[in-house]
Amino acid sequence: IKTKVGIIGGGPAGLMLSHLLSKSGIDNLVVEMRDHETIRNTHRAGILEAQAVKMLSDSGVNGRVLTHGDEHAGIDLRFNGESHPLDFRDLVNATVTLYAQNEVFVDLAAARQRDGGDVRYNCEVTEILDMETSTPKFRFTDAQGTLFEVHADVIVGADGSRSFARRQMPDTVRKDFKVAYPFAWFGILTEAPKSSPELIYANSPHGFALISQRSETVQRMYFQCDPNEDVNAWSDDQIWSELQKRVDGPDNFQLKTGKIFDKTVLGFRSFVREPLSHGRMFLIGDAGHTVPPTGAKGLNLAFADVKVLFEALDSFFSTGSDKLLGGYSDLALKRVWKAQNFSYWMTSMLHTPVNADPFMAKRALGELETVTSSRYGQQYLAESYTGWPHS
Ligand code: DHB
Repeated sequence: IKTKVGIIGGGPAGLMLSHLLSKSGIDNLVVEMRDHETIRNTHRAGILEAQAVKMLSDSGVNGRVLTHGDEHAGIDLRFNGESHPLDFRDLVNATVTLYAQNEVFVDLAAARQRDGGDVRYNCEVTEILDMETSTPKFRFTDAQGTLFEVHADVIVGADGSRSFARRQMPDTVRKDFKVAYPFAWFGILTEAPKSSPELIYANSPHGFALISQRSETVQRMYFQCDPNEDVNAWSDDQIWSELQKRVDGPDNFQLKTGKIFDKTVLGFRSFVREPLSHGRMFLIGDAGHTVPPTGAKGLNLAFADVKVLFEALDSFFSTGSDKLLGGYSDLALKRVWKAQNFSYWMTSMLHTPVNADPFMAKRALGELETVTSSRYGQQYLAESYTGWPHS
């Protein structure tokens, strides 16, 4: 198969890049390991920065994010049992949109199909060859076991946190940076009304909880748990009492409960690969970097990568100059490290490790007090949460 850009990975990052390339008349192919249904049912975060919303709507994916997304102008930081609302519109004149990542995938996959994009699911990439030359290649087998070889000008690794593409870069040119966390999130979906108009990020002596939403009738919530927690060991009643404990306070705030129909444990990790490119192969999204979920930067960061790489590819194919491609890694990494800092900061400020050093637990409360009691502190959080300008 001959194409200009061979994209390994058909999650939101790979599909968004494919969509933008096709709109610019740049031939591309997407090869994805999983099937459509599995990706559609993989629940991830739900917060889109305004710039991510704009990328979806302006590029003509479809308008569902505008009609079905829920605009949020703030969050509630809850600690010591008290609520501290942050108003993003007032603080930094920005908002975010709650729109589940699986909906983003559904929209992009439908747009690729509508526009005649070549996206192949259920395929396993087995080899990447010649990435240091101007004629890189990769081989994959499809669901029937047929072997294909793709000849491209550029290869993009968009294959997620366990990226195969990333592992094919030579040891001598790469450096990995990482942090492990002693906790994870227990995530649920429930048939219940909203408990509060805004999302609640709660720090409590029992650990962190996040009260998020999906619609008027379906809610998404998480609580900090052990990374090896078995979701099946928890009854609905136990889950509700654990969540309630973490938002309890003198104001008697009560979660609105309902039937729980999805339970998963989400691992935590901070990871960055440097550089994000080697020769003619480029990494985007989780393939190049992973953030812990607190603050929902993962998909937003992936879209920011896509924007930078798309502009570099567009320039490369229209002018033949690889100047912008050569600058991709450095430019994308600037934002990556800002988001790494924000995600690490939100995580450490809001979570309480089991057997936490009492000093550190109190220090985190001091930090929350510092942030919420000052307009500058609130603005710092609001600016990061709603997203820095795209480069
Ligand atoms: C959601 C997830 C997050 O990590 C976050 O910070 C906000 C919302 C969510 O799934 O709704």
